[in-house]
Order: sequence, then C-alpha cells, then structure tokens
Amino acid sequence: MNGIKIIGSGSAVPDHVVTNDDLAQIVDTSDAWISERTGIRTRHFIQADENASDLAILSAKRAVETAGIAPEQIGAVVVATITGDTTSPSTANRVALALGVEPNTPSFDISAACSGFVYALKVAQGMIADESRRPYAVVVGVEALSRDLDFTDRSTCILFGDGAGAVVVKSEPDAAFDAVLGAESDPAIGVPGDINKTEFITMDGRRVFRFAVRIMPKIIQDYLAKTGETLDDYDQVIFHQANTRIIEHASKKLGLTPDKVYENLDHYGNTSGASIPLALDEMVQMGRIKKGCRILCVGFGAGLTWGAAGITYTGPEH
Ligand code: ACO
Repeated sequence: MNGIKIIGSGSAVPDHVVTNDDLAQIVDTSDAWISERTGIRTRHFIQADENASDLAILSAKRAVETAGIAPEQIGAVVVATITGDTTSPSTANRVALALGVEPNTPSFDISAACSGFVYALKVAQGMIADESRRPYAVVVGVEALSRDLDFTDRSTCILFGDGAGAVVVKSEPDAAFDAVLGAESDPAIGVPGDINKTEFITMDGRRVFRFAVRIMPKIIQDYLAKTGETLDDYDQVIFHQANTRIIEHASKKLGLTPDKVYENLDHYGNTSGASIPLALDEMVQMGRIKKGCRILCVGFGAGLTWGAAGITYTGPEH
C-alpha cells in the first residue's frame, strides 16, 4: 500500500488562558503542586460561544492553506476527537463542509482519546491509498475537554486544555509510513460521550501513570521491531503531552536526548487527541521540524488505547 507524508500543518487554540493560580481559586491546589507533578502552567479553555468544531475548522483551514492544495484535491477528512459538538453531524462532517470538499468525500470521526491522532493517520493512509485523482487527506485532532471537567475534582480539572491541530497528508508509493496500534477495555479513564450529558471526565491518576510509563517505551520498541529501524532513523519524537514526568521517564528509558523530544505541556496542558498535531504544528512554525524531518508520533490514553506512527514532513510541494 502507498505510504503517506505530511505536506502542511495548522493549529488553533481558544483565546482564553487559564493559569494554575486561576484554578487554585476554584479547587484546593497550588501552582507549585500542579507544575511540579505535571509540568503544566497554563492551558486554553473554550468560552460559551465556542465549540470543538470551531477549533477543528480553523486548524484544518490553516493546514490546507500551508499545504497549498485546493479543496477538490482532498480525498478524505478524518478527525480524532472525544469531545465533538455532536455525534452526528460528526466533527469531520463539519470540517469537510467548511473546507468545501467535493460532496463524495468521506469524512468521519475516530474515538481513540489521546491516541486518536495516531489512529487517524493510519486510517487516512488506507482511505486515500488508491485515490489517484485526490491523493490528499486532512487529519485533525481536536478537543474541548474543559466542557467535560468536574471543577470540584482537583485531581482531574487541573490536567486538561482545549485545542486543535491538523495536517494534510499525501499518499505516495515511496512515502515511508508505518504504525502500530493497540487497545484494551479498561475504565481507568472515563469520558462522557455526548454534549448533552452531564457526566465528567474521571480518572484513576496513579493507575494511568503506571500504565503510561510502561506502555510508552513498549509502543516504540514494538514499532521499531516492526519497521526494522532504530531511534537514530528519527529526528523528532512527539509524545502525547499528558505529563512531563511520563515523557521524561519514557525518554530516559529509550535513551532519547532532549533535542529529539518536544514538550509544550507547560502552556497547553493535556489536550488529548489534539496534543500531537498541536505540538507538530508548533514545531514546524518554530523551525524545529524542517523539510525531510522524520517524526515518530507516540500516543496513549483513554480506552485504554495506544499507538505509534512514523512519518516524514516534506512541507508544501510548490
Ligand atoms: N492539588 C493538590 N493536591 C492534589 C491535587 C491537586 N490538583 N490532585 C491530587 N492531589 C493530592 C491527592 O489528593 C493526594 O493526597 P493524599 O496523599 O493526601 O491522598 C496527593 O496529592 C497525591 O496524589 P496522587 O494522585 O498520588 O498524585 P500523583 O503524583 O500521582 O499525580 C497525576 C497525580 C498528576 C494525575 C498523575 O497521577 C498523572 O499524571 N497521572 C496520569 C494522567 C494521564 O496521563 N492522563 C492521560 C490520559 S487522559 C485521557 O486519555 C483523556
């Protein structure tokens, strides 16, 4: 099957910034506790007149613009989210409409929480593999998690933020792309499923932490065993941004140097399915990801789910 490569990226976060001190006004916590245990200092929250689809559309439009492609060249729109505005229309349906893709273009959401973007890359590869006329897919990760937070639970409400990241991928025979994905049914993290429900995100933090430090290095080892590569074949590793301690633990175990591991938790918090593409676009904008850069995306999260995907950033074709 053809592989895929990234030719454009975009991102969007709400304007409203919430600091640790702001949260300390609401629950019994402190800036010191949050930043030492998680690495988070600020996060962005949507306001009453904003939804996940607004962020998804903005990030997708920016990705398409930087890729320099026309809407009629898009063969699929795949959105990873657990906080879409509605189950139907899906967030991807809304993004496709806003982009102005042709009516016979598949668009749908993927529910794999913080691993969602990695899953979505693998699905997008298959969706456009035999599309000779429209070999491009828009892949978005978006969350409006603040909507589902219990602001009486200090162990969860301090962790999450809202945002979106998007990429345009192109299907090509020679594009080096591969992925390993996994999942098991485990209620360690509970996520409400619909905008009208009144339940909140729940989490057994210690259990998730133990799972994360075990699974992150293992996914990478499984991925490298599958592809026959080593970490030297990758310029950047983008971990799901859940907790700086988890990222540091995985990096140490794998012998990754700081120049290969990016972190933006401090200003975004955990944005679940959005965290990897949000980091990716930020790295492109700051020049840390350049043309030809090999990137390993690594996610874990609710489900439980996990996955790793290796892909090349080539930038726009023209
Ligand atoms: N402020 C102050 N104290 C707090 C806070 C807070 N915000 N939250 C918890 N505490 C207290 C606890 O009550 C506990 O007090 P006690 O000892 O008196 O009982 C103490 O701090 C220690 O609590 P722990 O839960 O053991 O703290 P820990 O060091 O494990 O950190 C954390 C908690 C940050 C949640 C950590 O477990 C973690 O990062 N887990 C992984 C979370 C994650 O990665 N989630 C990603 C998936 S999310 C998704 O997929 C949607």
